[in-house]
Amino acid sequence: MTKLFRTKAVSTTQESKFKRCLTSVDLTLLGVGAIIGAGVFVLTGIAAATKAGPAIMICYLLAGMACAFSALSYAELATCIGGCGSAYGYAYAGFGELVAWIIGWDLLMEYGIACSAVAIGWSAYIDNALAAIGVHIPHALSISPFQGGIVDLPAMIIILILTALLAMGIRHSARFNKIMVLIKVAAIALFISVAIPHVNLANWHPFAPFGWPGIASGAAVIFFAYIGFDAVSTAAEECINPQRDLPRGILASLAICTIVYIVVAGLLTAITSYKNLNISSPVAQVLLHLGYNWAAGIIGLGAIAGLTTVILVMFYGLTRIIFAMSRDGLLPPVFAQVHPKTQTPVKVILVAGTIISLIAGFVPIENVAELVNIGTLAAFCLVCAGVAFMRFTKPNLPRPFKTPWSPLVPILGIVSCFYLMLHLAALTWEGFAIWTFIGLIIYFMYSRRHSALAKD
Ligand code: ALA
Repeated sequence: MTKLFRTKAVSTTQESKFKRCLTSVDLTLLGVGAIIGAGVFVLTGIAAATKAGPAIMICYLLAGMACAFSALSYAELATCIGGCGSAYGYAYAGFGELVAWIIGWDLLMEYGIACSAVAIGWSAYIDNALAAIGVHIPHALSISPFQGGIVDLPAMIIILILTALLAMGIRHSARFNKIMVLIKVAAIALFISVAIPHVNLANWHPFAPFGWPGIASGAAVIFFAYIGFDAVSTAAEECINPQRDLPRGILASLAICTIVYIVVAGLLTAITSYKNLNISSPVAQVLLHLGYNWAAGIIGLGAIAGLTTVILVMFYGLTRIIFAMSRDGLLPPVFAQVHPKTQTPVKVILVAGTIISLIAGFVPIENVAELVNIGTLAAFCLVCAGVAFMRFTKPNLPRPFKTPWSPLVPILGIVSCFYLMLHLAALTWEGFAIWTFIGLIIYFMYSRRHSALAKD
């Protein structure tokens, strides 16, 4: 049994092969970059119309609370364990190699599918924007073969551009991310200022037309909107002062996004009846409906910028987790090499970029986007459990940031994340089980034999 759960010593002085250049502002912007995207720009309307009504605001509050408990736990582990592997690395230190592999495998699914799914959303927005100025991409080249096209070329192209950007180095990526985040935040601010005069509170009645079940399943779906703050922790080896800046970056980005989401959801459902929101670009459509065509165009641009940063940061996180897993021997060692000039794991970036772009180009991934939620929620449960567990098993570990009221907060994190998982569709659970099963086969066939611990 102990052999199965072999573990490694906790190292709080993580050596880094990467260049340390990120500040707490960079990390906050990285977080906002990864968080605000398809969730608010696409899912809010659909979830309001079909699941929660105006109570979509409560959904955002519920999902935000589950994330806040998890974010506090992430902040503790990111500062006391560190490493670019995020939840994978914390599980390794807390629970051993097998659990770490399972969670790392889940994270690969979370980040990989999120990148592909958001790239497909990006492609739809670009298609609309180009059509608005009279440029039409042929149908066959803008949707996947499963939907009657040949390939979703724009989705592939954005992934390949971001592959090149990430390979060039984190400093370039962070600068690009900053500009894009500013554009999307400006677009949201514009929406808020244009929308406020049109608020009609009568639209908030009935407030929760589908009752509590609708609110709970709405929260499980719009949880997608919060995914990404965890990607901040994958930058642990590239920030100048991780112990101070990581908690700041994680908590600040989550707080900013929670406020933005509740305000946007409240305004959307106050301007028009929730019944009119079952559309894929509710924020822009509502403004068009009010006659603000120019503002709708700018929101479209903001959404494109927003989706770009989500792909960028999730892609970045994916490459760092693969890097950490191969550094530990669980994936082939070729992925643990850092290019001497750019100081980035170029091989991982190229391989991951190729796979994600192929998925984005040829698979109708929207259908499995809920898988991203379940994988992430499972990782959050484990991170919270790790905090509570390690307080008992490693009480003397230096903890520059301590989760308050531990173990209450981590336990609340586990309960709330698991509650959201229970409200995801049965098909999502099946997909999650199949993915985990494939992961276990790979672990026992390859990883367990080649891991650093096996060699020790
Ligand atoms: N939170 C990210 C989004 O909403 C994944 O696009």
